[in-house]
Amino acid sequence: MVTLDDSQGEPDWRRRRFLVATTSVVGAAAVAAVAGVMVDSLEPTAADAAAASTTVNLGPIEPGMQVTVPWQKKPVVIVNRTPAMLATLQETAAKGLLKDPKCEVPQQPPYCKNEYRASKPEWLVMVRICTHLCCIPHYRPKKASITPWWLGGFHCPCHGSMYDLSGRVIKGSPAPHNMAVPEYHYAKDGKTVTITKMYPKAHLC
Ligand code: FES
Repeated sequence: MVTLDDSQGEPDWRRRRFLVATTSVVGAAAVAAVAGVMVDSLEPTAADAAAASTTVNLGPIEPGMQVTVPWQKKPVVIVNRTPAMLATLQETAAKGLLKDPKCEVPQQPPYCKNEYRASKPEWLVMVRICTHLCCIPHYRPKKASITPWWLGGFHCPCHGSMYDLSGRVIKGSPAPHNMAVPEYHYAKDGKTVTITKMYPKAHLC
């Protein structure tokens, strides 16, 4: 698991290169690597389904923090958003800063077609790939850390695309769309989230 607290000390993400050590992430693929014999005994369809999903323990992710985990060779960011962070989402929309404030482009499953782009407002689960040319945007939650009007979000270092804390792209960015939200579900106790598949209509970049 790669754990990043905020805008400080982010690693040098490389396009499409994503090296991760798993700790609390219980990726089915990792389990399969350890228990190869067991996987050999599975039907191919079951093994494929297991390898395609990743389960993440939400417990260590403090309010305001994020983790980025590998899923199907893509980085998925999970942010525990505070009430103050959620309040910025209405502000960015009210100020007319967003290209697609109501998420009309199907970059997320229907259950995430809302300003939070999530099934639980506090938790953002999103593929962290810029929709312009596939760079990995930096997490920049602090206000005014990018521009004086910046309310927090993601900033792509490649060509300057900006996104709010729901991954909605800001006007003037070269990125055409909001970042993609995958399909996911929570455990009954709410302690873990399992990322299952790409929403078929979503575009990465
Ligand atoms: S790849 Fe993100 S702005 Fe170009």
